[in-house]
Amino acid sequence: MTPFSTRRFLQIAGITAAAVLLAACGKKEAAPVASAPAPAPAKVYVVGTDAAYAPFESQNEKGEIVGFDIEVVLAIAKKAGIEVKFVNTPWEGIFNALGQGDRDMVVSSVTITAERKGTMDFSDPYFDAQQLIAVTENSSIARFADLKKLKVGVQTGTTGDEAVTQLLGKSSTAIKRFESTPLALKELESGGVDAVVADNGVVVHYVANNPGGKFKTVADNGFVPEQYGIALKKGNAELLAKLNKGLAEIKADGSYDAIFSKYFGAAPAKAAAAPASAASR
Ligand code: ARG
Repeated sequence: MTPFSTRRFLQIAGITAAAVLLAACGKKEAAPVASAPAPAPAKVYVVGTDAAYAPFESQNEKGEIVGFDIEVVLAIAKKAGIEVKFVNTPWEGIFNALGQGDRDMVVSSVTITAERKGTMDFSDPYFDAQQLIAVTENSSIARFADLKKLKVGVQTGTTGDEAVTQLLGKSSTAIKRFESTPLALKELESGGVDAVVADNGVVVHYVANNPGGKFKTVADNGFVPEQYGIALKKGNAELLAKLNKGLAEIKADGSYDAIFSKYFGAAPAKAAAAPASAASR
């Protein structure tokens, strides 16, 4: 073993000190006052999201998680003064991960339902949605009830799954359940199912971006209106209050509307006022 001389140590120490100085110069913040206690590292809230749900949450070419939900939560977090980190989490098991504390929040176009409220808390709603039917261009399906004798694809455990299960019956073998909504839509393209029932925003986006699939959408006003919320583990009142306050602030100062129109092309109030676009969204 080579003895580690004092001189060598001083050399390394000198280099390190210089590097620290350089790094410090590169930063804009003023050096902390010597008497101030070192700030505790800020908690980073882990947000679970099933990032196969464009335009709400998906992965770009660089593998980054992007989308409407992501931007809304980042804007809320900024107002709330909290740090968040998104972790791609399969839909099946996403609420278990929340319950077990592996995720601090779930932001995944989650519909606020009475049943889910039994096991988790929700923020105030941040988006209005409804189920929409996707079929192939030449299909004669005109309403939800027409799916009764057909094969229908859904993403397992979604509100679309619930609606179709109600129509076709719990033990129906004509319901084909997929681990993601895009997989269900691929199956429609290949003829494995006659229709897919899923959230309108995702269906519209998929149909628009897959012209080769030769899909069309069928709206049905019988579907109950849905609203997305941020899901939290029960009893996390402090975080919930922060998120609701942040959400109210981004709605009030126009930043929510800016994100909305970036993804959906119109301010939410206008979209709601125009029945045609509301039905296809
Ligand atoms: N809104 C539907 C529900 O809450 C589907 C959400 C699916 N989200 C996702 N990222 N896969 O059941």
